[in-house]
Amino acid sequence: MKLEPVSKIEGRINVPGDKSISHRVALIAGLASGVSEISNFSTALDCGSTLSCLEQLGVKVNRSTEKILISGGVDLKPSPAPLDCGNSGSTMRILSGVLAAEDFASVLTGDESLRSRPMGRIIKPLSEMGATINSTDGKAPLEIIGTASPKPIIYELPVASAQVKSAILFAALRAKGTTTVIEKVKSRDHTERLFNGFGVNVNTSEDLSVTLDGPARLTGGPVTVPGDISSAAYFIAAAALLPGSNLLIRNVGLNPTRAEYLSVLTSWGFQIGANGQREERNEPVGDVSITGGVERGATSAARILKGASIPSLIDELPLLAVVGSQIDGGVEIRDAAELRHKESDRLACTAQNLREMGVDVTEHDDGITVAGPARLRGAQLNSFGDHRIAMAFSVAALVADGPSEISGADCVDISFPEFFKLLRSIIST
Ligand code: S3P
Repeated sequence: MKLEPVSKIEGRINVPGDKSISHRVALIAGLASGVSEISNFSTALDCGSTLSCLEQLGVKVNRSTEKILISGGVDLKPSPAPLDCGNSGSTMRILSGVLAAEDFASVLTGDESLRSRPMGRIIKPLSEMGATINSTDGKAPLEIIGTASPKPIIYELPVASAQVKSAILFAALRAKGTTTVIEKVKSRDHTERLFNGFGVNVNTSEDLSVTLDGPARLTGGPVTVPGDISSAAYFIAAAALLPGSNLLIRNVGLNPTRAEYLSVLTSWGFQIGANGQREERNEPVGDVSITGGVERGATSAARILKGASIPSLIDELPLLAVVGSQIDGGVEIRDAAELRHKESDRLACTAQNLREMGVDVTEHDDGITVAGPARLRGAQLNSFGDHRIAMAFSVAALVADGPSEISGADCVDISFPEFFKLLRSIIST
């Protein structure tokens, strides 16, 4: 993909439904009683993987209209063929929780990237709940021999991971008794909010423990998925970095465990507003407005991102490294070793592309320090097959001097197939 520098961003847009919420809504609808009508379901290939796996397990999914209809409440059936989770960590990890509580065997596999990612983090708690999970090296393919009567557990998450928390909560729907997941740092809480929104009580306490009393039955129904803030993030950054820009993104999910990105940009002096807040099945939604350029007189707040905010920023960190290269003092990102286990090693890939563009970068085991402000030079960049790297560096290319080319940029389809089309509709050269 060839990209030229642009002068500003202007428009009013919507972004497709949130990927994390869509995965969960699909799985909830598959297990819930009745038919669930889902509007604004994510167009991401990853969410397509979740729907295909559900179909393989005997769930009726009607994708023929703009709305997706899922008829739940029937017993899942074993799939003779392996369940292909594609590139999607959320599909593999959260679906494992569902299958751990089904009285049959399943095999879950995925593409080369997914087969290289750590699965020990779900194998351990789901085995404690009574499932047998076979894997040669703690990675996919996974064979899951589930149990119809999983045990409730008390489990402290060793790494902040909403996927692992969600896997345990889905299995806990079938367990007799109270399952408790204890987090050290709060991760995205869509499963908790949506279970409550679909009739299953999940309690979250101040000490970051999440409890569910099983067995519990979800009740299906209509839902509109909020726009994906992690997709909106790229347009927000591009508009913020280009003075003279004016952008409104409607109906964006503003769950506090995902919206930290907006607070960080605001603390860096960018002009971002969030208005018209409302809720959809307990998920906050609103409109985000961006005026280009840094606010006059903005003081430079701490440019270090670390600690408890990291899980809430996890998918935006490559993009924040790009934005950080454009601000006074640059940015230092720490406590983010998890980025090495995403669709690519996002610390190494971000560092390599930033260096190609002429930025001074230091890589740490758990983060990256990016010098700024830097003039980005147009360059030959690599997506490394990772959708978030491709989109973060598309933003970099728009604010660079001279043209850039990103190889393998079609991987944006994994989370945001409309990305380049929508981007082209809001840029002024
Ligand atoms: C996700 C959780 C995060 C995030 C991923 C989606 C989810 O992963 O990076 O893109 O939907 O629960 P971890 O749970 O591994 O942190």
